[in-house]
Amino acid sequence: MAEKKRETFGSKLGFIMATAGSALGLGNIYRFPCEAGANGGAAFVIVYLALALVIGTPLMISEFVIGRNSRSNPVGAFRKLSGGKGTAWPVVGYLGVLCAFLILAFYTTVAGWTLGYLGKSAAGHFAGQDLAAIQRQFSDFTNHPWLPILCQLAFLALTAVVVMRGVKGGIERWSKILMPMLLVIMVVLCVKSLTLSGAREGLEFFFKPDFSKITGKVVLSALGQSFFSLSIGMGALITYGSYLGRRDNMVSSAVSVTLADALVAILAGVIIFPAAFSFGIQPEAGASLAFTTLPLVFQQMTGGYFFCLIFFLLLVIATLTSTISLLEVIVAALTEELRLSRTKAALLGAVGTAVIGVLATMSFRAGSPLHIGAKTVFDLLDQITALYMMPIGGLLIVLFVGWKMKRGDVMDELTSHQTLRPGLRKAILFIIKYIAPVAIAVIFVSQLVG
Ligand code: TRP
Repeated sequence: MAEKKRETFGSKLGFIMATAGSALGLGNIYRFPCEAGANGGAAFVIVYLALALVIGTPLMISEFVIGRNSRSNPVGAFRKLSGGKGTAWPVVGYLGVLCAFLILAFYTTVAGWTLGYLGKSAAGHFAGQDLAAIQRQFSDFTNHPWLPILCQLAFLALTAVVVMRGVKGGIERWSKILMPMLLVIMVVLCVKSLTLSGAREGLEFFFKPDFSKITGKVVLSALGQSFFSLSIGMGALITYGSYLGRRDNMVSSAVSVTLADALVAILAGVIIFPAAFSFGIQPEAGASLAFTTLPLVFQQMTGGYFFCLIFFLLLVIATLTSTISLLEVIVAALTEELRLSRTKAALLGAVGTAVIGVLATMSFRAGSPLHIGAKTVFDLLDQITALYMMPIGGLLIVLFVGWKMKRGDVMDELTSHQTLRPGLRKAILFIIKYIAPVAIAVIFVSQLVG
């Protein structure tokens, strides 16, 4: 069968920026503070950082190995590398594509909010408002009958448009400019937040650990958060790895992305917690934490209107580079497995996501019947993916690279086809084979029985 030549990223820097674009997003700025707030603060942060480094980076490398070696979407990758017929491995790929759908569905709920908040900041809705008024704005917005849905659909449409343009012109070009800008504005915000009157208490909550707070649930939540934040455990980075140039160093790329991701999460915490404490917002405030504290911080700044606008603009963009990576998983699978065109695949993916996504958005309304047990559809999707699907997917991915793939192929990939020394790569292989699978299994099982 004549294969069309697959696209690749233009450079290693472009690859790092696109991967960082996938990793950096609402997971860092919205979900991480929520999770840290709900799970006791600093103790969670430490467990999170340890897991991101010890399990996250090797798992990210494993995904790159599978992607680049197979040059395929997750479904095709497992089929090719497991020797084809009669194996169940492609199921891991299907699981990943399903997971991309489910994540994209609830992720675009919040992505829609960022778009709505960009509009609100442009219109100057936050000027001169106090805490109560800003909290009311958040609940008015999320309870509005159609506005959040419209924002969500607009966001999905935006994502589909970029994905239709393909890897180099769409994904890579955008990520390279916008990721560095986000970092700069976050540093500025951080400085401001640290000078607020209640900053100290917030910093203690975020940095001074109380180890008695570490329970099985905290550790599993930290694992889920690290997978979510690094975009690992479901094939997004298999897909990006499949576009990586043959000689580019995947190990250093993975380390850079992990560090950048941790840095932005920590910055988000340093912005949000001091501000939350100084305005009297509970750290457990959940969904509203980022969307109330940040507009309040901007009010305290000279040029607040301007900074607020830029911040939400960059947040929209950081979120967009993440939704792009999620939709790309679906599109890569549909174009290569079902031979759809890129345009059709992107449309189909976006429409499919919209159906579940709108339910997630509606489940946020006060008194919404869209609850299963005590949980909203939104929370349910979040938890099924982060606490179950991604850890299981991640476990299978490291097992596949450690035990199923040909050792020579894995080493070739880790050393980028003999252009790099194999010393450190042996150590990485050891983590992939033994440490990561045992750690994921132990955390997962102990939570189930505990
Ligand atoms: N990592 C992104 C964030 O932190 C979200 C994301 C993008 C994602 N692609 C993913 C999460 C793939 C899991 C899997 O916002």
